[in-house]
Amino acid sequence: MTLISSLHSLQAQFLRWYAMDIKYNLKSTSERRTEPFMPEDNVGFGKLRTDHMFMMDYRDGQWCDPRIVPYGPFEMAPGAMALHYGQSIFEGAKAFMHEDGEIYTFRLNKNAERMNRSADIVCIPNIDEAMQLKAINALIDVDRLWFPQQQGACLYIRPFIFATEDRLSVSPSQQYTFCVVLSPSGAYYASGVNNGIRLLITTQFHRAVSGGTGESKAAGNYAASLRAGKAAIEYGASQVLYLDSTNTEIEEAGAMNHFHILKDGTVIIPTFTDTILKSITSQSILELSDMLGCEVRQETVMLDKFIADIESGEIIEAGGFGTAAVVSPVSSYIFEDGRIITVGDGNVGPNIKHIYNVFTELQKGHMPAPSGWVKRVERVEP
Ligand code: PLP
Ligand code: COI
Repeated sequence: MTLISSLHSLQAQFLRWYAMDIKYNLKSTSERRTEPFMPEDNVGFGKLRTDHMFMMDYRDGQWCDPRIVPYGPFEMAPGAMALHYGQSIFEGAKAFMHEDGEIYTFRLNKNAERMNRSADIVCIPNIDEAMQLKAINALIDVDRLWFPQQQGACLYIRPFIFATEDRLSVSPSQQYTFCVVLSPSGAYYASGVNNGIRLLITTQFHRAVSGGTGESKAAGNYAASLRAGKAAIEYGASQVLYLDSTNTEIEEAGAMNHFHILKDGTVIIPTFTDTILKSITSQSILELSDMLGCEVRQETVMLDKFIADIESGEIIEAGGFGTAAVVSPVSSYIFEDGRIITVGDGNVGPNIKHIYNVFTELQKGHMPAPSGWVKRVERVEP
């Protein structure tokens, strides 16, 4: 295929997606929210749902039937391949309400791009990014009254794709469903940014190996992390610090990228590899270096040096970056032999607070974000 014909085919594909109309099958006014959501109790993370969800199916080699329908259970064959072989991926993004009362998504295009990267890794057909964005925006528009009007809250966006073909041979499914649900949410860790968490440094459990699926948001990666998460709780830790399979390099912290801060204020995030999820929060912090007023860089982080640098005071703060977790400070690490290493004096340091404040102020529209990062959800509900 020549370059011109590939461009034509891409353009045709884009136009097809754009023209693909979303069908609306909405709840009646008496069944759906009609007043803004003003929760009295803390909404927590990921517990609540809104009135509707977006769905679209893949069959006969194409994505079809985009629709917004009442939130509710799926009808699925017991032999659906996602249930047996875990061919399922997801994304996590957030939308915020700004002072003008409108809802704005945060870097949603990066999630759509990463959804397709995950799809490639587990042999799921891609969904045009413009279509993913259109779907999510249309759903938020329909359920905009569900935005939780509570300090620090947001609409958490959960797009996911799963294999639905009723077949038991191990090969890529020929049928899929793409679904988006919304969750009015608050902080992921109840401790928020004001208290640090403890991480278990485990040499027993690993999240990913090179050549595997670690870089993707494949559901199986999270199933594989549960046993380690359980062990962390037994050690009094909130999550696990994952090492590479040789137990020498630091990779990730639970469902967050790990980072640490040197005494000169430099922020260091482990270099992205095929065993580390390319966090959109980390990428944002890397791009915000000037605004934050500190150097932010990536490098391979060796466990031994990391520990020695905490003990010598060269490393003064540490934490995790992630959409759900935002910027979560780590106050200490525990080894499987019970040894505890405290970061600094164990309190949340000023650099982490500063990063958290700048990042969340951008998301909430209190500070100007780089061009294209925050996008208003248009009012289009028919
Ligand atoms: N690492 C893992 C394993 C995750 O599940 C997440 C959450 O999405 C992250 C890192 C952070 O990525 P992001 O900032 O894009 O949410
Ligand atoms: C997110 O941060 O959005 C995630 O996907 C993490 C999730 C597993 C809670």
